[in-house]
Amino acid sequence: MKAVILAGGTGTRLKPLTFWTNKHLLPVGHYPMICYGVAKLREAGIRDIVIVTTRLALGAFAEVLGSGRDWGVSIVYRVQEEAGGIAQALELARPVMAEGEKFVVLLGDNLFEQSLRPFVEDFERQTSGAMVLLKEVDDPRRYGVPKLEEGSGRIAFIEEKPENPLSPYCVTGMYFYPSDVFEIIDKVHPSDRGELEITDVNNVYAREGRLGYQVLDGWWTDAGTFDSLEEAGRRLKGTLP
Ligand code: G1P
Repeated sequence: MKAVILAGGTGTRLKPLTFWTNKHLLPVGHYPMICYGVAKLREAGIRDIVIVTTRLALGAFAEVLGSGRDWGVSIVYRVQEEAGGIAQALELARPVMAEGEKFVVLLGDNLFEQSLRPFVEDFERQTSGAMVLLKEVDDPRRYGVPKLEEGSGRIAFIEEKPENPLSPYCVTGMYFYPSDVFEIIDKVHPSDRGELEITDVNNVYAREGRLGYQVLDGWWTDAGTFDSLEEAGRRLKGTLP
């Protein structure tokens, strides 16, 4: 199965660090952040990776990761010409995927303790629908928050950054999609902030009763703020999966 790592964006919450570099190239422990995602996916059995990043950062990504050879994977790059949201960035991977191919998507600032291999293997066996990984967090308000459907193992809907979260879980940036995700992206409209939101895409699956989930045990963080970036560096130090 292939994976798409989304590593574009403007890194607003990490300015001024991100004035001069892409968020996913910032140091986390002994490595640029992007290395953990690549190594984690490889450890999960994934060998083909598509990295979506900006025009400005592309050369630096190529310097760090090259073709992927030294990391035991094969990497192709796609360029996001302008920021248009996570779903718009994901759409850029469309030409790389074969008809009917399912795949995983990782937001490049999401760092996980637990192996992703069991989830990848489960999704390989899953015959239809999409899946997301959830993590119980102290303050879900800064994330996408799922309302779980009782008894079915599915998500009823997701609210993006709600004031009154309907569960203690956050939707992490590890998504598992069937190939129809691109047709769904074609149909979603830009949000109030003018972006194609991944939560709107996931809510199409949820409405159709096709959004499954699993809950992570180990620590998880998105390293998109100063606090979470520091936490990630402390936890990971020089350890690659
Ligand atoms: C994005 C998603 C959000 C998810 C989070 C995980 O938010 O929109 O649903 O919970 O990633 O890292 P962002 O970090 O872009 O605000």
